[in-house]
Amino acid sequence: MDAKHVYVEDLKNHVGETVTIKGWLYNNRSKGKIQFLQVRDGTGIVQSVLGKGAVDDATFAACDHLPQESSLMVTGAVRQDARAPGGYELSLTAVTIVAQAQPYPIALQEHGVAFLMENRHLWLRSRKQHAILRVRAEVMRAIRDFFDSRGFVALDSPILTPAACEGTTTLFNVDYFEDKAFLSQSGQLYVEAGAMAFGKVYCFGPTFRAEKSKTRRHLTEFWMVEPEIAYATLDDVMNLAEEFITFIVQRCLERRREDLKVLERNTALLEKIRPPFPRMSYDEAAKWLHDKGLPFEDGNDLGSPDETALSQAHDKPLMIHRYPTKVKAFYMKPDPQRADRALCVDVLAPEGVGEIIGGSQREEDLAALERRLEEHKLPRAAFEWYLDLRRYGAVPHAGFGLGVERTTGWICGTEHVRECIPFPRMMYKIYP
Ligand code: 4AD
Ligand code: MG
Repeated sequence: MDAKHVYVEDLKNHVGETVTIKGWLYNNRSKGKIQFLQVRDGTGIVQSVLGKGAVDDATFAACDHLPQESSLMVTGAVRQDARAPGGYELSLTAVTIVAQAQPYPIALQEHGVAFLMENRHLWLRSRKQHAILRVRAEVMRAIRDFFDSRGFVALDSPILTPAACEGTTTLFNVDYFEDKAFLSQSGQLYVEAGAMAFGKVYCFGPTFRAEKSKTRRHLTEFWMVEPEIAYATLDDVMNLAEEFITFIVQRCLERRREDLKVLERNTALLEKIRPPFPRMSYDEAAKWLHDKGLPFEDGNDLGSPDETALSQAHDKPLMIHRYPTKVKAFYMKPDPQRADRALCVDVLAPEGVGEIIGGSQREEDLAALERRLEEHKLPRAAFEWYLDLRRYGAVPHAGFGLGVERTTGWICGTEHVRECIPFPRMMYKIYP
């Protein structure tokens, strides 16, 4: 009789039953007449006990020498056992080896990251990577749930675009028939059109930047969610960002606690992530950096070390607003109180993580925006459609972008964003 196929994560519902797990060999230990096969199936790992005589001798012998990551199906009775990893154990009565693996390159020992990255397609199977990518999937689901349940319309922005959004230095060029196009750096300009059509919208997808910086925070392909709201101000989006980040973090604590445990994440730090978040103007941040004796030059954008210092000093995300207009993007609206400061915000995650959100109120005045395009030497023709949004019913509006990998890295306590996306793309990194 064929036993029912169940997943490891559902074993708790099948205690006493005989079930089949379909998966791969994670590890095995042999004590002569008894073998302990750890079988993983993508949802978890279960220890399976195989006694000599439970299966035919040939199968028993084959199991004893089975390389890691061989695929197999195991059938046995489910027992609750507090000592077993995961809390359940199988007493096997049948084993089918599906495909014996060749000697597995990623053994259960420490390897260098460069080697692991070359084997990313296999590295995905390891426990820690598995936990990180499950948290990432939860972050993505939380993002959609948050906006979908608040009346935002999901409006996808194009990936092939005719113009720069976030500066011309990080554009990827693409041949577009007889023309030239760029991979999108941000869907913002398109969600601005969307906000004028639907009131509140968001886009969520991959974005591309030819980042030459090889840091732990930069990918050349990353996922970003960008809400945009008509009639919203900087204050409105700062409040929204606070609520949004709280929602994502609390959701991961609620649903991915096991994964966070695998990652040995200090969840007490995440429990604290509730409004209100501290807020600081750029000028206050500059003063703070000076007071700490850091070599920060007034008027510059915050550099990585500055962000790290500021973010380490707070146990909640820090919202820094009103950066100098000249270091920020062309579309940001200058503060009417002080034109050399932009109505913008960066949210820095704590523990030294740094920026996870960048947002702003947008310039809605046609003449002012035309001047900004000129100052930034951006080709006017490619932006005519964008200027139309100011010609036909311009209103104040604002939005932000949150990076999925940096957010995932923060929640997981992972140093480097390269582990927070299944197949990272960085300078010098396009394989596999
Ligand atoms: O601050 P950024 O550049 O803002 C924008 O793109 C705006 N158009 C967003 C908006 O207002 N609609 O990027 C937003 C976020 C950053 O805070 C960071 O989390 C992430 O995107 N990000 C990156 N993540 C990984 N690798 C990179 N190279 C990133 N560049 C930005
Ligand atoms: Mg930014």
